[in-house]
Parts: sequence; structure tokens; C-alpha cells
Amino acid sequence: KAEFRAALAECVGQAVQDGLEAPTVGLVPTMGALHGGHAALARQARAENDIVVASVFVNPLQFGDPSDLEHYPRTLEADADLLGAEGCDLVFAPSVEEMYPGYPDGPIIRVCSGRMGAVLEGASRPGHFDGVCTVVVKLWGLALPVDAPAPARLRSYFGQKDAQQLAILRRTAQDLDLPVEIRPVALVRSPEGLALSSRNTRLDSAGLDAALVLSRALQSLRDAAEAERPLDVKAARRIIEAEPLASLDYLEVVDHDTLEPLTADQLTAPLQREALALVAATVQPVRLIDNMILPAA
Ligand code: PAJ
Repeated sequence: KAEFRAALAECVGQAVQDGLEAPTVGLVPTMGALHGGHAALARQARAENDIVVASVFVNPLQFGDPSDLEHYPRTLEADADLLGAEGCDLVFAPSVEEMYPGYPDGPIIRVCSGRMGAVLEGASRPGHFDGVCTVVVKLWGLALPVDAPAPARLRSYFGQKDAQQLAILRRTAQDLDLPVEIRPVALVRSPEGLALSSRNTRLDSAGLDAALVLSRALQSLRDAAEAERPLDVKAARRIIEAEPLASLDYLEVVDHDTLEPLTADQLTAPLQREALALVAATVQPVRLIDNMILPAA
């Protein structure tokens, strides 16, 4: 941590020497096993900031299942290459002991994601979003260049792929008055429409085909929102239920900011506020998530 802070302070010092008054730092938190979705985050951070830092840390606090944690792919060398190629200045890849001295007993103090972390993904992964918030708040604390020779502003990049995570982290910064600007990055899809995820590599070609029902179901809702037609959530669910290789966990339409479900009245009238359609389904036995933003009328 000390080494990372010192290196970051040095980058800020260099930027000041180069004539910048208040450099910006773009932080890209990841768990590694990077693909094109992560690359988009690094690329946007590079385009918008003077200094770009990324973290690669498989955060044990956000895993419920120990075997899931143990089998999480670790490809640090390739990840560092990808981040370097995208123009990252620093990569922070701490050990668990360094992040959480005394783990598994530590840390004692953790962030609580409340009702936003208990729904949707949180319903099947208790404690997951508390773990995400705790590690991200720590990363923000570490990436705020307090020792630097000039004030610097922190921006933190998150993918729309994990829409619930993004909404919760926006709210974390807001509710805890943390000096960080959250920057969302559009979801990156395959040419066929599948949301990029490291889990997709576990699907065979039939699974990859079947997985397309997720984005197809969401698109049916987006088409309706754009045409200001009623949102037929049941019909969207049926698109997934009709695929024999897919097993639907949830498909919901919720408020974009609070994640509260839209009422039947809100689903039938033109949307007054931006909404979010989210889906989770298991295909071959990989649990996939996807979402689309539904624009207000
Ligand atoms: P991870 O799953 O490695 O994802 C890191 C970031 O990449 C997240 O913000 C995620 O939304 C984004 N991302 C992944 N696939 C994407 C895609 N297809 N399009 C756009 N963005 C994509 O999310 C985490 O790690 C962790 O929870 C973390 C925030 C690092 C905290 O541990």
C-alpha cells in the first residue's frame, strides 16, 4: 500500500512539473482475468484523466462460496500487459494479507449496502455487495493522492455490465460523502449481443447460442420503452423460459437509481424516469447476468 501511494504521489508530482495545476486520477478497480469489457474501462479512464491506475485484487469478502473464490482465474501477467497496452500508469495488485491484515478475522469495520444490496443479485449472494463496497471504499482511500504535491481529483470507473454494483457504489459515494466521481462505462457485447464476461469461456457453442436469449429478452423491453409501449415483463421472461438450455433466476424492471421495482402502473404508462431491466439466468451451468437501460419517454 505504501509503495502504491508513493508511486501515485510521484505520478502526480510529475504531472505538476509538466504544468498541470490539479491533475485527475482515474481508478479502474478489477479482479483480473481481464477481457474487452475491462479494456473499455481502462481506455475511457485514459481518455479522461492525467493519471490512470488500475487495481487487480480478487476480493475474498465478496465471495460467498469458498470454491468459487479458489477457482477464480488469476492471470496477473497478462492483465498487466493489457493494462499497460491501454495506457495505465500504475497497477496495484496487493495480496489478501496486505489488503486485510489478519484476514479472515479482519477487517472488523465494513460497509453495509443495506436494502440495495439485498435484492436481485444480492438475494442469491448474501454479503456480496457489502464486500464489494468495503473493498472499493478502501481502494478509493488508497488512490486519493493525499501525499502528493498538489490536490488531485479522483474518478472511479465501473462497467454498466454490473448495473446493480454501479448503482450501489454511486450511492456509497453519495451517502458517505466520499470525494470521488463515479464514471460509468457502457456494457461491451460480442457482435452477437452477448455481454462480455470471463464466465462465457465456460460455455460451448450451443451454450453461447442459448445465452443470447438474455439480451434478446432485454431488448424486447428496450424496444417497448423506446416506442413508449407498455413493458410486458412476463413476455420477456417467456423468451428465456422458451430456451431449453437456460434456466431463469430473475428478470425485473427497477428504478435506475434506487433499484426499487416499478409498479404495475409504472410498467403500463410511458416511463417517467430512466429504468433498468436486469436479468440473471443459468446456462450450462454458468450463471450469467445482463441488463439494459430503459430510457424515459
Ligand atoms: P470485475 O468482475 O473484474 O469487473 C471489473 C469492472 O469491469 C467492473 O466495473 C465491471 O462492471 C466491468 N466489466 C466487466 N465486464 C464488462 C463488460 N462486458 N462491459 C463493461 N464493463 C464490464 O466488478 C468487479 O470486478 C469487482 O466487484 C470490483 C468492483 C473490482 C470490486 O472487487
